[in-house]
Amino acid sequence: MKRALRRGVCGPLLAALLLASLAPAQGGNRAPGGEVEVLHFWTSGSEAGALAELQSTLHRKGHLWKNFTVANGGGGLAMVMLASRVNSGNPPTAAQIKGAAIQEWAHTGALSSIDDVANTDKWNALLPRNVSDTMKYNGRYVAAPLNVHRVNWLWIDAAALRKANAKPPATWDEFFAVAEAMKKAGIIPVAYSSQSWLDMGTFESVAIAVGGVDFYRRAFIQLDPAALNSPQMIQALTTYRRIKQYSSNASSGQDWVASTSMLTHGRAGMLLMGDWAKAEMQAAGRRPGSDILCIAMPGTAHAFTFDVDALAMFQVSDRNKQAQRDLAHAVMDKDFQQAFNLAKGSIPVRQDVSLDKFDECARRASADFKASARRGTLLPSLAHGMAQPAHTVARMWDVINRFWSNDRMGAGEAAAQLARAAGQAGR
Ligand code: BGC
Repeated sequence: MKRALRRGVCGPLLAALLLASLAPAQGGNRAPGGEVEVLHFWTSGSEAGALAELQSTLHRKGHLWKNFTVANGGGGLAMVMLASRVNSGNPPTAAQIKGAAIQEWAHTGALSSIDDVANTDKWNALLPRNVSDTMKYNGRYVAAPLNVHRVNWLWIDAAALRKANAKPPATWDEFFAVAEAMKKAGIIPVAYSSQSWLDMGTFESVAIAVGGVDFYRRAFIQLDPAALNSPQMIQALTTYRRIKQYSSNASSGQDWVASTSMLTHGRAGMLLMGDWAKAEMQAAGRRPGSDILCIAMPGTAHAFTFDVDALAMFQVSDRNKQAQRDLAHAVMDKDFQQAFNLAKGSIPVRQDVSLDKFDECARRASADFKASARRGTLLPSLAHGMAQPAHTVARMWDVINRFWSNDRMGAGEAAAQLARAAGQAGR
């Protein structure tokens, strides 16, 4: 991250734009307790609503809550802003960051241990091992997990499917047949957002469908150049590009809220997106599981690409230490995990929360999460920073985004660039 700043990723213009996008600090009058400032990129209606649950808990404990909001889905810009805050010696209390970035930040010494809270509240017993491991550095908790998002979802408007006289697709061939049928019925088949993190979110699932789970691991977790620049990768890229001919014209640069809204309001038939989109559909009164069907992205029903949102805890003054502990405690509270995840579209990361109040898609996500963990097909999402450090992911995002945007770029060239982008990482 620091390297990205040094390389000038955050030039003066970008910095000005970023600062302009920051929401004003909120929180009301002076509180008797401490202060928590949380850096995050949750700006859609459902995201802000979910976070408000945490805010009220901290208010009830007498702490002042400040949002440091960086408007940008997927969080790429939020990470740049975070680096700038930490580098200038003014870190927030906590920041919404993901798996590999938590380790990177901990390695710089910027994070603070919350082991006292985690031990008292028995986090080891409540969290799946593959999640708790990513929340720790040198065996000590430095971040508190909020949820589990499933990335490899396909959402289908049930009415559009009926109109096209089609069935939910299980493979990419079936998907393109459904898309063709929708097109003939006068429906835009795919609401698509082409932004680098979203392009990669779709592409990584296509790679699983084409190459399988082991291929995904070799390419995106081990960064094996022989897998990255391989015939399977070229085939995955070719399949991925076919989605474009069925996508809305306005897809380029469109944010995820806009494409989700196209599906929600019947302006497109399908959406390839993680379950944060479900929260927006629900907020608009659509019923996931009946009005809008949720199925795994084609060819990935046996796998689960996961994205865990977490609050990493930064070094704070003694005055605010208790507020930070209260924040960590609140994140893992059982009732909070239920309320937050009902609003966020994800599933609770605590394994003992009842899913009775959750919709059918959340229940399916939970069952698939457990089944994938048993079978060894639970995969950290590359697109969402769960598998590689931020600068590696950014380079790989960029290749897929350029491949989607530029029809003249061949799949062979893109595969070669992907291998180079992964290899340059860390230099
Ligand atoms: C985050 C979600 C968020 C989504 C859209 C994902 O990377 O994990 O919490 O809602 O991006 O901003």
